[in-house]
Amino acid sequence: MDRGRVVIYALSREFTQSDSARICGGAGAMRLRIFAWFMARLGHKADRYLASYKFELFADVSGTVLEVGPGAGANLRHFAAKEVHWIGVDPNPYMNRHLAEEAKRVGLRIDVLCGTAEDLPFKAGSIDYVISTLVLCSVTNQRRALSELARVLKPNGKLVFIEHVAAPPGTLLRRIQSFVKPIWRRMGDGCNPDRDTRASIERSGLAVGEIVEFEAPLPIVRPHIAGYAIKPIATSESRFTG
Ligand SMILES: C[S@@+](CC[C@H](N)C(=O)[O-])C[C@H]1O[C@@H](n2cnc3c(N)ncnc32)[C@H](O)[C@@H]1O
Repeated sequence: MDRGRVVIYALSREFTQSDSARICGGAGAMRLRIFAWFMARLGHKADRYLASYKFELFADVSGTVLEVGPGAGANLRHFAAKEVHWIGVDPNPYMNRHLAEEAKRVGLRIDVLCGTAEDLPFKAGSIDYVISTLVLCSVTNQRRALSELARVLKPNGKLVFIEHVAAPPGTLLRRIQSFVKPIWRRMGDGCNPDRDTRASIERSGLAVGEIVEFEAPLPIVRPHIAGYAIKPIATSESRFTG
């Protein structure tokens, strides 16, 4: 495999980083640039406290792997020694440079597309594994994104996820999450601290294999879930059922 090479595609056409900025940039370019800069520094910090979950959940990942919202590439090192064709889809073109640097550092060939989880340019049933870490909090339409992830997975394909989620209703932390949400969303590039992502995954039409709940060493977005869900064979064209 041609490791260390980075190719950036828009759908099927090979394109450059400036094409990418034109397609996915636009309004809020400075905000996106600043967030990419932060993710290049913070993503790897989060990788440390999530590493044990990632080692376990990514252990059997192989084949065509789609990572939605890969950010600056905090997960790439986990795939470097595996036989995978890694494809990333992220709407922030300013992540590309950081992704490319990290891919070179760990020796992984990557293909990056500018786009969103809600509208994936892949055929139904074409992906072996979908990876989502700290992304379902940020997608604009979680229901549609999960429907798309289910659509592109092959029958028996796996969605592997690690996400921060809402604190239980009625708790002080949940009230704090609701209170800070407007400013949190602005500062965190659309990140919602109080999404019930577990319920959304359970309603997605995918068969939940395992979900563990744990607390991350963070103040507001402490409650996390980690696990996987499998696309049932019988419903290879299943859409979101919730
Ligand atoms: C908090 S970062 C997480 C990055 C990386 N997954 C990690 O674990 O370090 C959230 C990422 O999701 C991306 N994102 C936001 N909205 C998205 C969408 N609708 N579809 C796909 N990715 C999205 C952001 O651009 C950003 O790269």
